[in-house]
Amino acid sequence: MLTATTIEEVRAWERTAHGQGRTTALVPTMGALHEGHLALVRRAAQIAREVAVSIFVNPAQFGPHEDFSRYPRALESDLAKCERENVAAVFSPSVETMYPAGFRTRVHVEGLSERLEGASRPGHFQGVTTVVLKLLEIVRPDVAVFGWKDAQQFVILRRMAEDLNLPVALEAVETVRERDGLALSSRNAYLSPAERRAAPVLHRALQAGLARIIAGARTVAPVEAAIREALAEEPLVILDRLDIVHLDTLEPIERIAPGKTLMALAAKLGSTRLIDNVRC
Ligand code: PAJ
Repeated sequence: MLTATTIEEVRAWERTAHGQGRTTALVPTMGALHEGHLALVRRAAQIAREVAVSIFVNPAQFGPHEDFSRYPRALESDLAKCERENVAAVFSPSVETMYPAGFRTRVHVEGLSERLEGASRPGHFQGVTTVVLKLLEIVRPDVAVFGWKDAQQFVILRRMAEDLNLPVALEAVETVRERDGLALSSRNAYLSPAERRAAPVLHRALQAGLARIIAGARTVAPVEAAIREALAEEPLVILDRLDIVHLDTLEPIERIAPGKTLMALAAKLGSTRLIDNVRC
């Protein structure tokens, strides 16, 4: 496995792979790898001959009062996990490599980036699209794999790839969860034992909303009520956002759009902010 920190090293790897006719996939991550990330790696390996994983805690997507400095970093164990998954190359650049002095360019997907999480975290998605476009240009994969865990992120990146005619296919993998329903996230490590016990209510609440739709609800109001009611059962969980939107436009809907409805929520447990979503 190549462990590259410079752009030149990873470009040389890409040229060799493609020069010898092997397809490549990129799995962009911020590290502290868990089974959710590894599900992406395994999907990538099904699609392409060689898989690259990028590990970069991207300062541009964290707000000034967010958790950039305390975000978990675990490069040694991440490398071991990648090795076990037969990853061909890990790219873990420094901040200076990605954003050298004089860096001025930002990529912004209008409209989609301001909604949902973008409304709560101004500038977040501009940081994501800027770094992902850079990673795609550096690694030049045939396919890049993302998780539905961050549904809005995937919708925005898909839009960016189409709008900019990027020669890469984007693929998304279903959210990997703990047995109690909690979506795996590097941020789960911040939870106290009591918060960890309360956290599965995010998934339970979304399932309660889904159950309303399956029972025949055709408008959003009763679905939203069911989600709020379920969340209210856990006093440790403070709802920050609940958005029921169209999956492609991310615009709020009043009637359930079959197959195109995204229900997404964000909640605070103490100082930890978790997100989750379901599509239906
Ligand atoms: P990170 O949070 O490390 O997530 C990397 C990828 O793993 C994302 O595509 C995310 O959706 C996916 N993922 C995380 N938890 C998952 C789970 N439980 N099940 C399935 N997939 C999961 O998302 C980012 O990093 C960054 O924004 C990034 C795209 C790397 C740009 O900096």
